[in-house]
Amino acid sequence: MVKQIDYTFPQGFLWGSSTSAPQSEGTIPGDGKGLNNWDYWYSIDPDKFHNHIGPEKAAEFYQNYQEDIKFLKQTGHTVFRTSIQWARLLPQGTGEVNQKAVEFYRDMFRRINAEGVKLMINLYHFDIPFALEEQGGWENKATVKAYEEYAKICFKEFGDLVDTWITFNEPIVPVECGYLYQYHYPCKVDPKAAVQVAYNTQLASALAVKACHEANPDHKISIVLNLTPAYPRSSHPADQKAARIAELFQAKSFLDPSVLGEYPKELVELVKKHDLTPDTTPEELAIMKENTVDFLGVNYYQPLRVAAPQYLANPESPFFPTVYYDHYQMPGRKMNPHRGWEIYERGIYDIAMNLKENYDNIEWILTENGMGVEGEEKFKVDGMIHDDYRIDFIKGHLKELHRAIADGANCQGYLLWTFIDCWSWLNAFKNRYGLVELDLKTAEKTIKKSGHWFKELSDNNGF
Ligand code: BG6
Repeated sequence: MVKQIDYTFPQGFLWGSSTSAPQSEGTIPGDGKGLNNWDYWYSIDPDKFHNHIGPEKAAEFYQNYQEDIKFLKQTGHTVFRTSIQWARLLPQGTGEVNQKAVEFYRDMFRRINAEGVKLMINLYHFDIPFALEEQGGWENKATVKAYEEYAKICFKEFGDLVDTWITFNEPIVPVECGYLYQYHYPCKVDPKAAVQVAYNTQLASALAVKACHEANPDHKISIVLNLTPAYPRSSHPADQKAARIAELFQAKSFLDPSVLGEYPKELVELVKKHDLTPDTTPEELAIMKENTVDFLGVNYYQPLRVAAPQYLANPESPFFPTVYYDHYQMPGRKMNPHRGWEIYERGIYDIAMNLKENYDNIEWILTENGMGVEGEEKFKVDGMIHDDYRIDFIKGHLKELHRAIADGANCQGYLLWTFIDCWSWLNAFKNRYGLVELDLKTAEKTIKKSGHWFKELSDNNGF
């Protein structure tokens, strides 16, 4: 019987998933890997991590990658995105290269290429070598230089196996979580440092774009941004303004310099008003201007619901973006109760139209979207997790993506978070996202119903 396909995607559309090295590889056996910020933080404060599970094992991809890679084809992957651990390749962040790491990544990349799956390799997914963190991390411009060297080493060592690169994953997250809200190490509350970290990261990204093009002119490089659209509570001008400013901080702070080569004027003014202007040089700004990304990676999980702030903060109190907006719980919104995140499929369409209209219709790929679920074992029937909720989640988002493409969006692929269930920062293994189940007790891996469905989706290029 021929299956009816209601939503067909453009020819060559990429289907796959994303993961990150710190969340999948684990650090045992070390094989010369240096400590990163997560290893260190766990060693001094394990209580912060769900069930005291730290990054050392993660999903043990380092030991099992040869077997794990076989699941890629079985779940319909035509593309796979993961990252390189900087501290695995350069244990001290700079200097000597760990040859074991080179061998590991080369072998992994070679095997994935042999499966006919396109690689998309990210240089940085929230993990900085601790040796650099100790010297001020991203607050220090020496880290920018070190990152540039690291990027060049990656292009040299792996450029024959990888032609599609990413400079950073969601760079706003370490800025906010590390320097404003204390969810990531170094757990500071320091708006001035936050702005400098954001700037230094953007500069590092532009330097990596430059180095990539110099090393291999035909390679493509991107940045992955979590472009949560901000929806105002009402049409009241104060709410509208709050939403605009939320987007300035959350999205445009990296989107504009990455794609257009410069910061939005309104953001520059706001930062100046609060005496937070970072240390910049005309040469650095020129590097950003000249080295914009070739395409964009977009992660989308949930929107921002924004209202004008209830009160205006005391001008003496430290600056936070949220001086300008409050989050609010929109009545009746659809939720993923496990992760506590709103599900709003239409967000994808709105992001797509924004990129089309305001960013020269830049080519982009949906690099993360996914549904984290706690206690998935209870959906196990005859040895397989029946995650119909995940299939519905993906379908809902794909319908909006399909509509956006029909309306001219330049989206070239959809990557789910994630491939095999993996470790997740402070939440460890609380919420599962994978197309493939990882049983923590037996280490057995089993394709979920969504994994089989994803294969059909990819084979049919639609559903
Ligand atoms: C993305 C990150 O923002 O969200 C991933 O790039 C992360 O690293 C994913 O795992 C899901 O979030 P969480 O916190 O539920 O793991």
